[in-house]
Amino acid sequence: MSTQYQPGLENVIASETTISYLDVENEEIVLRGYNLIELAKQVTYLDIVGLMLDGTLPTSDQRISLEDQLKSEYDFPQDVLSMLKLFPEKANLMDVLRTGVSAIASYDDELEDRSREANYRKSIRLLAKVPQIVANGYRAVSKQPFVEPRKDLSYTGNFLYMITGKEPMKMEEMVFDQSLIAYSEHEMPNSTFAARVIASTQADIYGALAGAVASLKGTLHGGANEAVMKMLLEVGSEADIEPLLMDKLSRKERIMGFGHRVYMKKVDPRAVLMKEALAELVKEKNQQELLRMCVIGEEVMKREKGLYPNLDYYAAPVYHLLGIPIELFTPVFLAARTIGICAHVIEQHENNRLFRPRVLYKGPRNLHPQDSSYIQ
Ligand code: ACO
Repeated sequence: MSTQYQPGLENVIASETTISYLDVENEEIVLRGYNLIELAKQVTYLDIVGLMLDGTLPTSDQRISLEDQLKSEYDFPQDVLSMLKLFPEKANLMDVLRTGVSAIASYDDELEDRSREANYRKSIRLLAKVPQIVANGYRAVSKQPFVEPRKDLSYTGNFLYMITGKEPMKMEEMVFDQSLIAYSEHEMPNSTFAARVIASTQADIYGALAGAVASLKGTLHGGANEAVMKMLLEVGSEADIEPLLMDKLSRKERIMGFGHRVYMKKVDPRAVLMKEALAELVKEKNQQELLRMCVIGEEVMKREKGLYPNLDYYAAPVYHLLGIPIELFTPVFLAARTIGICAHVIEQHENNRLFRPRVLYKGPRNLHPQDSSYIQ
């Protein structure tokens, strides 16, 4: 037995996959052979869904059929909507989402079918329903009326509409779509690993996704995008960001939105993509100071710590300008990542080996109950 121990499984290969790979040396995120950034600039999130599920980019006919399939699964169990209203106002929306994903599982007649075909159909159902749990979960908790999905809008347009209650401008829809692609898949982050570990017991795809939601909530992972926006709002103006960061760093605080286990001290290409999107958005919304503030923050972190921003750093202000409430930033990340996680669960089910690692035991040995003071 190998006794090599890597804290945090750093650099450990956990799976073989044909889904994605972070080629850090060449600053490329490989998605089924394509460069994720090139895809984000040339195709839509719906194409990514097709690519992830089928392994190839869809033709225009296949894209239309995929969109039809997704929209035909928009029906949402009314009982689950009623259940969402039971959460208190202070509920964390990732907890609401985790519960919603578990609840809709029971309405899926194919829940226990692990075949590729059934997993494909369940992935489509999840993609149709997760954005609704995100948007209407928020509405339930903030005591606002539910919104029905609109089939006349694109998949992405409808998601943004259900969150904000307003039909998005074309430009807003495009930026949101790019952000969904940026978040769609990223090799083996903690949440995807959690989903694969769960799926490796032959547990169902809904359970694997619910586990991924729990993982993604943490601030070292998906929760960082909300923390970034709270920090930017706390800063307020561009003159204040450097003193705030210097103060946090002097207290050895972690700055959310910087650093990454795999990229380490290299650029996250998705952050560059979202920075460009933010540059477009600030012009449209006349909010140039927000971009300038972010750029100063980026320069300070590079100078002081040699750290680069990750996707969350620039996705956060983008979501803010799109009118998305902060507490929905991480649920939106999960909704976008649903396709990546589904692809990994399908792959795990098709080529499974139960995850069951060992430990490096550091505790005592040779204790006996009769020697304990508990037993008189
Ligand atoms: N702010 C300040 N210092 C940092 C940061 C940061 N954001 N990230 C890493 N460091 C420092 C650490 O303090 C440590 O310094 P030291 O060696 O002087 O003690 C060094 O860099 C290495 O840090 P580790 O925690 O060992 O690196 P790890 O690979 O485990 O960290 C992580 C990766 C968790 C993402 C980290 O960079 C972090 O906490 N970032 C902030 C949270 C964040 O933005 N998460 C989003 C990740 S991307 C995503 O989910 C889309």
